[in-house]
Amino acid sequence: MFPTLGYNSLDLEVHTTHSEDETILAGRKFAARLHAGDVIALYGTLGAGKTEFVKGICEYFHVEDVVSSPTFTIMNQYDGMQSNGDDVKLYHVDLYRINSKREFSEIGFSECMNAPDAIKLVEWAEKANDEIPANRYTISFDLDNSDENIRHISISHQGEQVLAA
Ligand SMILES: Nc1ncnc2c1ncn2[C@@H]1O[C@H](COP(=O)(O)OP(=O)(O)O)[C@@H](O)[C@H]1O
Ligand SMILES: [Mg+2]
Repeated sequence: MFPTLGYNSLDLEVHTTHSEDETILAGRKFAARLHAGDVIALYGTLGAGKTEFVKGICEYFHVEDVVSSPTFTIMNQYDGMQSNGDDVKLYHVDLYRINSKREFSEIGFSECMNAPDAIKLVEWAEKANDEIPANRYTISFDLDNSDENIRHISISHQGEQVLAA
């Protein structure tokens, strides 16, 4: 029997945070599993906490630049350092204002997504659909119905892997 190669979504983790700082900390903890080349697709409405979480990821990689939502610039690039001391680039993309296929190619989105030496963080990933590689982390930010400072952050990983035959 040959094993089947397929796309599989592994365990879903859900973290509940009670403040901006807790979301930053959740991002910092999550970042410990990341490697150059990884893609992280971030979903959630305006103000849901995507950029705060990215700030935490950037903290983990010792980024010294101020991390802010690249809503007007579309894409920011930061220089980071991995735990082994090697450099790593972080591309922080916000697709909120992107509306057409032409705009995706103008910003060089697919080249950016395929950069092997960078970690790619994409806010408003729902705008990109299949332009984001299938092998990725998916992180969704949900507001809480009763408390304006609570966020529910769901993390899963999708990737090509060998499934049991
Ligand atoms: N638990 C929380 N986690 C993250 N942000 C929170 C939380 N509670 C309140 N906030 C506020 O929500 C906003 C989140 O903003 P931001 O991360 O820029 O959102 P997004 O990038 O998803 O549009 C900030 O103003 C932050 O202070
Ligand atoms: Mg943002």
